[in-house]
Amino acid sequence: MYRIAVIPGDGTGPEVIREGLKVLKAVAEIVGFKYETKVFDFSGERYLNTGKLLEDKDIEELKGFSAIYLGAVGHPQVKPGILEQGILLKIRFCLDEYINLRPVRLYPGVQTPLRDKGPEEIDFVVVRENSEGLYVGSGGFFKKGSKDEIAIQESVNTYKGVERCVRYAFELCQRRNKKKKLTLCGKTNVLTYAWDLWERVFKQVSREYPEISTEYTHIDALCMWMVKSPEWFDVIVTDNMFGDIITDLGAIIQGGLGIAAGANINPKGVSMFEPIGGSAPKYTGKGVINPLAAISALQMLLEHLGEEKASRLVEKGIIYTVQRLKSLSAGRMGYSTEEVGDMVVEGLSK
Ligand code: IPM
Ligand code: MN
Repeated sequence: MYRIAVIPGDGTGPEVIREGLKVLKAVAEIVGFKYETKVFDFSGERYLNTGKLLEDKDIEELKGFSAIYLGAVGHPQVKPGILEQGILLKIRFCLDEYINLRPVRLYPGVQTPLRDKGPEEIDFVVVRENSEGLYVGSGGFFKKGSKDEIAIQESVNTYKGVERCVRYAFELCQRRNKKKKLTLCGKTNVLTYAWDLWERVFKQVSREYPEISTEYTHIDALCMWMVKSPEWFDVIVTDNMFGDIITDLGAIIQGGLGIAAGANINPKGVSMFEPIGGSAPKYTGKGVINPLAAISALQMLLEHLGEEKASRLVEKGIIYTVQRLKSLSAGRMGYSTEEVGDMVVEGLSK
């Protein structure tokens, strides 16, 4: 019996999660596993009404679940940073979900701006460190508000944090069993402290995985290669900030935010699965948002729980569906959010 915490959140979050839960119900019936869900209303809406973000007791409660399924947080009436830090990053950090896993895979029939590349060429995964770096909120202001103001934002990189992330990437590369190639994406030529540590740890851990070939690429060059020769990559490991940036680039080369999903993983704790696109306020309530990213996140959730058959079925449903949509973009799919969810369910048994 799985216990799944569901956080629909803001904007289009609830609409896409509804479709994901529909697919979960269908696939659980086919495969025959049991689950229960509990819905939490953490969101910008709740914050505006009650002033409440995520409290320590909420974190304690979330620790009791098998997984968390998240729609999106972000509200146009709430100052940027509050919900991100108070809800999303709070879960990632307090549950120590130290890996952010974001696959970049082009499904058959999906249009990518890289027209001459197909599903064979676009199939890699980014392992983004998810608990440190520039995201820890370390730094401060000096002479704030004056013309002499200084703002400092520090990147925190610990041996332990880097090592567990790099190790996860090597293990994943082995499990994928594809090109068996791990790329470290950094900026050793400029950020000489952080990336010195990353590079040393990477080399050290690599000795334990002789069957995996390794390479290092600067973040800027890597952005270029992701577009020019995506077939070059198998697994990419990088820090929190660079990972954030390159996975938006990854999202667009696999067809856009309509399909891009991510997992926030604590291998020994509770992990959280989410579409990476955010709350899309301008599409909210119109029934035009693409739920496939949320359904892909559900697929990752099932794989994480060890429900391999269910995960494969959901992917089959996704592949069945992408080939029938006019576009993966919100409002241009040729179908409503609900119809796309229904189509995935239909595809489970095709
Ligand atoms: C993401 C988002 C978040 C991040 C924001 C909303 C804090 O962009 O999940 O990629 O920067 O990690
Ligand atoms: Mn992002």
